[in-house]
Amino acid sequence: MALITGIAGQDGFYLTELLLSKGYLIVGFDNHSERMRKLRLRLSDNPLRSRVLLELGDVRDRDFIARLISSSKPDEIYNLAAQSHVGDSFQQPKVTTDTALAIKDLLEISLKIHPVARIFQASTSEMFGDSPPPQTERSDFNPLSPYAQAKLEAHELLIEFRQKHSCYACAGILFNHESPHRREEFVSRKITLGIARIVSDNSGQMRLGNLAARRDWGHAKEYVEAMWLMLQQEQPEEFVVATGKSHSVEEFVASGFALVGEDWHDYVVSDQKFFRPSDPPDLCGDAAEAYRKLAWQPKIPFGELVREMLLADLRPNEPAFRRAASMILNSSRTN
Ligand code: NAP
Ligand code: GDD
Repeated sequence: MALITGIAGQDGFYLTELLLSKGYLIVGFDNHSERMRKLRLRLSDNPLRSRVLLELGDVRDRDFIARLISSSKPDEIYNLAAQSHVGDSFQQPKVTTDTALAIKDLLEISLKIHPVARIFQASTSEMFGDSPPPQTERSDFNPLSPYAQAKLEAHELLIEFRQKHSCYACAGILFNHESPHRREEFVSRKITLGIARIVSDNSGQMRLGNLAARRDWGHAKEYVEAMWLMLQQEQPEEFVVATGKSHSVEEFVASGFALVGEDWHDYVVSDQKFFRPSDPPDLCGDAAEAYRKLAWQPKIPFGELVREMLLADLRPNEPAFRRAASMILNSSRTN
């Protein structure tokens, strides 16, 4: 039995599919009702969907959490709930911090009423800020946003709690991971959806912020495997989860437009509105420890991730889709 907080987000979906395939029963909740509706719809194809119990709820609600843990007695708890948009955290520092620090209640409640539960916390590469790449488990943290600061507090709190109470709780230091289920507020999906709209309408613009920032982009379905593996070890430990390669936002844009035979310079406009007060320049993780101890290794390269996301966003049944899809399939054959 697993409990997943923030189950209606991108990772919640992939983790649910993974755990179902491994025979788990799942209880999951999220505070976003529209996204919960979409999750139900996505799971409707899965023959194991009756093994998932979904609830609307807030990770900051102590009574709700206590009730859920005491009724479900989960073997594993995956804490994914977060205000996870870094840009938004500058406008909403309080909600971002309160949600991140809900891990404290989760740890305390679990220890009190069901201490055998193993807990995974979704920490982030954002905590490294401008620490030089490649970042490892031993790199300095230097958070540059309210989101990064809040996640770092949660990360340190978890490690302190584990040392004090000897419980099984650990945090994955996750670098950026994307998929066709990524929310469109994040740059990868904004780019692939934007290209799909431009191809379909044969016009339009894409307004973006910092094109120079470099991120280590992997595929979400591989990152949830690392989460699961982290809860199957003898001892709880923190791991960097990353591909080891970073690309600039400009490279993401250029790859996407090249796949549909267009030059990005003709469409992309730089807009101050999408710049952040501060932004880590280069997040690129060294996941050697995860390779060594978890036998976890990402296989989906950057180009394939961009292709998969773009194909999913292009509208079928339009001539533009068929043209672009055949270019994408041809380019994947030659790569
Ligand atoms: P996501 O798509 O934003 O999913 C998080 C879900 O949690 C959203 O549905 C969100 O709904 C919900 N939520 C927010 N506040 C909540 C609350 N108080 N109670 C219950 N649910 C709440 O994020 P993700 O990409 O799946 O990431 C999962 C976790 O990994 C997050 O903690 C994120 O910070 C962390 N992480 C992600 C990445 C990445 O690249 N994807 C990298 C490092 C770490 P709302 O829309 O209402 O906020
Ligand atoms: N969202 C967005 N929108 N980002 C833009 C834009 C834009 O129009 N233009 C440029 N960027 C730049 C951002 O400034 C950032 O440098 C980079 O694109 C990636 O932005 P996001 O996709 O929003 O992701 P993020 O790196 O800030 O945060 C994601 O990864 C973190 C792990 O490093 C989120 O998933 C976080 O929750 C996660 O912790």
